[in-house]
Amino acid sequence: MGKIFITGATGTNGKALINKLLEKKADFTVGSRNPKDANHILGKDIEVRKFDFADSNTYADALSGIDKVFLLGPPLVLKVDALINPFLEFLKQQGISRVVYFSAMAADKMGATLDFHTKIEQKLQDDDFDYTILKPSFFAQNFKNYESENILERGIVFMPAGNGKAGFIDVQDIAAVAAETLTTEGHSPKTYQLTGPELLSYDDAAAILSEVLGKQITYPNPTPEQFKEVLENSGAPTFIGDYLSNVYQTIANNDVNYLTEDVAFVTGKKPTTLKAVLVRDFAI
Ligand SMILES: NC(=O)c1ccc[n+]([C@@H]2O[C@H](COP(=O)([O-])OP(=O)(O)OC[C@H]3O[C@@H](n4cnc5c(N)ncnc54)[C@H](OP(=O)(O)O)[C@@H]3O)[C@@H](O)[C@H]2O)c1
Repeated sequence: MGKIFITGATGTNGKALINKLLEKKADFTVGSRNPKDANHILGKDIEVRKFDFADSNTYADALSGIDKVFLLGPPLVLKVDALINPFLEFLKQQGISRVVYFSAMAADKMGATLDFHTKIEQKLQDDDFDYTILKPSFFAQNFKNYESENILERGIVFMPAGNGKAGFIDVQDIAAVAAETLTTEGHSPKTYQLTGPELLSYDDAAAILSEVLGKQITYPNPTPEQFKEVLENSGAPTFIGDYLSNVYQTIANNDVNYLTEDVAFVTGKKPTTLKAVLVRDFAI
C-alpha cells in the first residue's frame, strides 16, 4: 500500500481525512509548520513531521520513506502555485509520483488572481504525476467555520452568491473519497468533482439554518461591492474581499449549478445533506 504523507493535516479537511485513515488502519504521517500544536490538535499518537511548503529545508526529513502524498494548499492565500511548485519539483526528483491534489470545483472560473488550482492541476498532468484531482463544491462546513458570527449574532448569511445554487458538500464525504483514493487502486489519472446531494441557493441555506436553529436567518444577497465594503470596514485586508467575491461569484454565475455522482461512485455511499451537517455543526 505504501506510506502516505498528509499536508494540510491540522485543517478542516485534513482532520476529517486523518479520522478516515485511522479507521482504515492506513500507514500515514502528517506535516505541519508547528508539530507541537499539531499534536495538540490531532492527538499525541499521530506522527507529525515539521513541514512548510515555503521552506524547502523541511522537505527531505518530512518525506523520508513516503510513497504518496495528499496535497492541500492553504485557503485565502494568493499564488498558491508559487508556494507549492518547489515541493512538486522535490517530489519529482525523489520519484514520488502518486499525488492526490485538493482543488476546487469551477476553479477555472474564479478569475486570473485565483488561477492557482488550475495551474497546479496542469503541472501535475504536464509533469506525468500519477495524480487524482479532487474538485469539491462549497463545503457545508463553511457556514460554521466562516459565518458563525453572522448567523448567530446577526441572523444573516452574508456572501455575494447571488441567486445561484451550489451542491454544498460535507467535508466528511470529501475525506471519505480522499481516503479511498489514497488507499485503493484505480483512481489515477482521474479527476473527481465532488458535490452534496442537492442544489441549494443561499436563500435555501438560510431557510434550512432557520429551521435548524429555531430562529430566523435571512440572506440579504449582497453585491460583491457591498460585501467587500463590509469586509473592509471590519478591518479585513482588501485582497480577502476580492478573493471571497471571486469565489462566491461562481455560485452567482451558475458555474457550480450541477450535481455529480462521484462521491457515491468512489465510496459507495450517498453524500450527506446540508441540513444534516448543519444539525451536527450547530448542535449545542
Ligand atoms: N471552503 C470551500 O468551500 C472550498 C471548496 C473547494 C475547495 N477549497 C479549497 O480547500 C483548501 C483549504 O482546505 P481547508 O479549509 O481544509 O484548509 P484549512 O482548514 O484552512 O487548513 C489549512 C492547512 O494548511 C496548512 N498550511 C498553511 N500554510 C502552510 C504552509 N506554508 N506549509 C504547509 N502547510 C501549510 C495548515 O497547517 P499548519 O498550520 O499545521 O502548518 C492547515 O492544516 C483550499 O485550497 C481551498 O481552495 C475550499
